[in-house]
Amino acid sequence: MPKSKSPSPEFRLLGSSSRIGAAVEEPVAAVSNQPSSATTSATTSSQPPPRQPIFLPAAVPRSTLAPRRAQHPPLASCRSVYSYTRLNHIEEGTYGIVFRARCNETGGIYALKKLKLEEEKQGFPITSLREVMALMVAGEHENVVGVREIVVGDTLNQIFIVMPFIEHDLKTLLETMPHPFLQSEVKTLMMQLLSAVAHCHGNWILHRDLKTSNLLLTNRGQIKVADFGLARKFGDPLGEMTQLVVTLWYRSPELLLGAKEYTTAVDVWSVGCIFAELMQKDALFPGRGEIDQIGRIFNLLGKPTEEMWPGFSRLPLTRTINPIGPPYSSLRKKYQFLSDSGYDLLASLLRYDPEERISADVASRHPYFDESPYPKHPDLFSSFPSVAAGEK
Ligand SMILES: Nc1ncnc2c1ncn2[C@@H]1O[C@H](COP(=O)(O)OP(=O)(O)OP(=O)(O)O)[C@@H](O)[C@H]1O
Ligand SMILES: [Mg+2]
Repeated sequence: MPKSKSPSPEFRLLGSSSRIGAAVEEPVAAVSNQPSSATTSATTSSQPPPRQPIFLPAAVPRSTLAPRRAQHPPLASCRSVYSYTRLNHIEEGTYGIVFRARCNETGGIYALKKLKLEEEKQGFPITSLREVMALMVAGEHENVVGVREIVVGDTLNQIFIVMPFIEHDLKTLLETMPHPFLQSEVKTLMMQLLSAVAHCHGNWILHRDLKTSNLLLTNRGQIKVADFGLARKFGDPLGEMTQLVVTLWYRSPELLLGAKEYTTAVDVWSVGCIFAELMQKDALFPGRGEIDQIGRIFNLLGKPTEEMWPGFSRLPLTRTINPIGPPYSSLRKKYQFLSDSGYDLLASLLRYDPEERISADVASRHPYFDESPYPKHPDLFSSFPSVAAGEK
């Protein structure tokens, strides 16, 4: 039998945003699993019952537990990716391909990240759902990239996140800029980064992949935290989470040593590594493997003791690896040019004991930001050619 071209009744119901919108407007609209009197009587006739949404009459009490539909963003179908004209490819990362595109309607320039769904056999991946959710929640902050919309291609595995196009990522910029950032610039960037991370943590979101390539910078000196591909909501109590997070160079010692429960402190450690990288232009701990990574940390910060980090000796990998290192830290010696409060901030971000590590919120109000040289106004940042926009 040839396939009918007309959509099924269910499809028509779900595909029509106006119908769904009408249900939102309807004051007494509440969908129930219980059959309504209309459907009950229909089943007694010889004809199959017409498929209709089931609305309860006003007298039936609405569930107090289920959130109102009106409290959620309006349900509407996604636009097509053909609403945009592709300009150039920016980057292919682990979870998606990113390209620059122009919106046909407004002429605005955006970055479209295509989710990698080709290999998916079990439906839409949870990681992509988390990325979109985290971007929508955290994107309200001015230093988080945010999401404009989700668009879809011709096939089910073509799904794109549309974000504002940002001229630089900090990794590419650090590689191509002729001089390292000035202290006043580092301060501005750190204040923005800490404010964005504090916002994520305040909204129960762990980023879990903070690194310079995931930090975008506008030509007007504004940081935008991007790539929420590993982000997730955390709760209280935390519960066990995967240890396979955070790019090696930015991974905290508790994760490297196998801690199964971890906190917002994992993001704070990454911010400490980024702070050092902004000052020196090179990654602070560019390990070649997990053991080398721990070795580099211990070498610079000294081997931790149980006193310094209660619970350290009981971490799953502490005994197995038994990493060596000097009994003292040489962080101060490495960053002699930093003021005492600058050093205090760096050392507080890179504290071994996650419980003692400073929070992003407290760090964003550190006295380092109130002393001379003062943070440079973002408008006064020099603009650089954007590699992502194909500028030389
Ligand atoms: N909104 C944007 N504007 C401009 N460039 C962007 C934007 N979003 C991402 N990029 C560029 O694309 C790169 C990859 O994006 P993203 O980090 O989101 O993807 P990913 O696949 O998760 O990457 P990876 O696994 O390498 O971290 C970024 O490092 C940045 O250079
Ligand atoms: Mg990335």
